Amino acid sequence: MKILCAYNANIDAIYKVNGLQMSSFAQDYGQEISVRLQNPPGSISLIPDLFAGLFLCMQNGTGAEWMVRDEEVFQWLKSSFLEDSFMRIGGNMGIMANVLSELGASRVIPNIPNPSPLQMSFFSGRAIYVPSEGGLKRISDVHQREPSEDSQEMIHFVFDFKKGDSFLLLGKQMSVPRENRFIATYDPLNFELYIDEEFSKYALSNIGDIDGALIAGYHMLRETYPDGSGYKEKLRRSLEQLKAWKDRNSKLHIHAELGHFYSAGIASDAFSGLAPLVDSIGINEDELAMLAGIYNIDSAGILEMDALSIVRASAALCESFGIRRILIHTREFVISVSPTSVSESVKTFEALHFGVKCAAAFACTGKLADRNTLLAVASGIDESDPGRMQIAKLEDNIPIQYRENGIIGEYRGYSVCAVPTRLCIHPVSTVGLGDTVSSAIFLRELELGS
Ligand code: GLC
Repeated sequence: MKILCAYNANIDAIYKVNGLQMSSFAQDYGQEISVRLQNPPGSISLIPDLFAGLFLCMQNGTGAEWMVRDEEVFQWLKSSFLEDSFMRIGGNMGIMANVLSELGASRVIPNIPNPSPLQMSFFSGRAIYVPSEGGLKRISDVHQREPSEDSQEMIHFVFDFKKGDSFLLLGKQMSVPRENRFIATYDPLNFELYIDEEFSKYALSNIGDIDGALIAGYHMLRETYPDGSGYKEKLRRSLEQLKAWKDRNSKLHIHAELGHFYSAGIASDAFSGLAPLVDSIGINEDELAMLAGIYNIDSAGILEMDALSIVRASAALCESFGIRRILIHTREFVISVSPTSVSESVKTFEALHFGVKCAAAFACTGKLADRNTLLAVASGIDESDPGRMQIAKLEDNIPIQYRENGIIGEYRGYSVCAVPTRLCIHPVSTVGLGDTVSSAIFLRELELGS
């Protein structure tokens, strides 16, 4: 399989949070943090903003990503946390490209916004090839631009916290209800939805020979940029690129993976722009709830991970926008909703199981490996009980055509495939699991010819 991947990649510096240690780091900023807990800034301009964002997430067990606006705070993050972090490829596109490469795609061709030696060193060497001088080069052979004096690595600090950890919030001892992560993102390039020229040229000239494209990064777009421009032009450039690919190769299968949008306007423009162009859209329950809210679709039950509510809202989105498939991945289960036949759904069902297993093994070990190794690791990981319960509830509410560790059913003319996830008790990190599940499913479906 030859697959294009665009647009966002960065370095993730994953830092394992120790609640009490973080509370002592934050001690000097007590008053400032308290003000920000009442009125969260949503981005990081000063150090107390970071602690407010992190503690809010830890308090509720939720995830969030806030942009670092100030270069000095970024330097402080590096000097305070980088040494004790472990670094790996980040960004939805970067993660998905590595998954495809390790799982056995023959050629994975990424758009790399910042090909610094450090970032390049985290890409999989197995099947990733970079467009260069009209052809493709193995990642190890690419001339890697040294970062210039004033340029920075695009590092996202991923603060991973564990369920049950304790921390002090305004002098009160708190306990974390669920593992999750808070991301502090410094990243001027990916905010632009940067498209590399060599990538664009290669993709357009060779599109007839490509099987699929995985795209992501739209949630990084901002309302305004330092040069005064807005996001609309950057979004338009990308949508035109996808359209040109489809015009030249109607068989090209495109999956768009969305992320957490900080603005409803950008989410709505990206979603409605992508819907007619792509074959499938991947989201989690937070993103589904946001889209449902934007389009006045009933969102009750989505954040509580009620599978029937998720199916209902997804089918409504498919109907309103003519989307060929919505893939919803949650911590407990993965569901595909699409207007396809049962015979095609059997392949989707198999692909969902495959994706869930790959993601579980990745969560457990923190590393990718070839598919046999990942599947062997996954066979020892238990299925989610809440996931199984939700799927049993679906069985009681919609007509079912097939069941075996999950279901294929029907909801208002849409085919519904649902499988429980597999949950590792002590995940190395939870960041990038949605990308891993989506890209593994995408590859398996291409292989099965659905
Ligand atoms: C977002 C973050 C990135 C992380 C990715 C995981 O793109 O910016 O740091 O690796 O999500 O899905």
